[in-house]
Amino acid sequence: MTQTASDFDTAIHTCVRGFYEAARKDALIGPVFEGTIRDWDAHLKTMDDFWASALLGVERYKSAPFPPHLKLDMTQAHFDRWRDLWTPAATAHLPEPLRSKAISMGEHMSHCWGRAYVAMKEQMAV
Ligand code: HEM
Repeated sequence: MTQTASDFDTAIHTCVRGFYEAARKDALIGPVFEGTIRDWDAHLKTMDDFWASALLGVERYKSAPFPPHLKLDMTQAHFDRWRDLWTPAATAHLPEPLRSKAISMGEHMSHCWGRAYVAMKEQMAV
């Protein structure tokens, strides 16, 4: 059966919620989310838009995703855990070709963002 853009949107919606179901319970990254996010509906909608833009190339997320993280207190381990939960969520909920793209983007982003984040936090502490 041919998949439509709306099927992909639905899959992203389900994937984002699957990821957060695991992430909110996670001992390392769960407290960071729970301690920061007050409006979960708004956050999940932002994440739907972010992943639709990243995976489908639609212009829906128009902000800068990295800066909001700088006020948080995280290490590379948080980004590694984020990836360890994102990969199974993408595997479970996304059809190809989105699945492979989401997994490789997640690996790339957690690695690059983690390194940039740690370096910027060190500079901010000086
Ligand atoms: C590289 C992997 C990650 C990606 C792609 C990602 C993506 C995003 C995006 C798109 C936003 C919305 C920013 C906005 O408001 O426009 C966001 C917010 C947020 N992220 Fe991440 N994130 C990542 C890693 C993490 C990690 C490891 C944590 C730690 C638990 C985290 C915690 C948060 C929190 C708490 C917010 C809400 C910030 C706020 O609204 O004040 N993120 N993330």
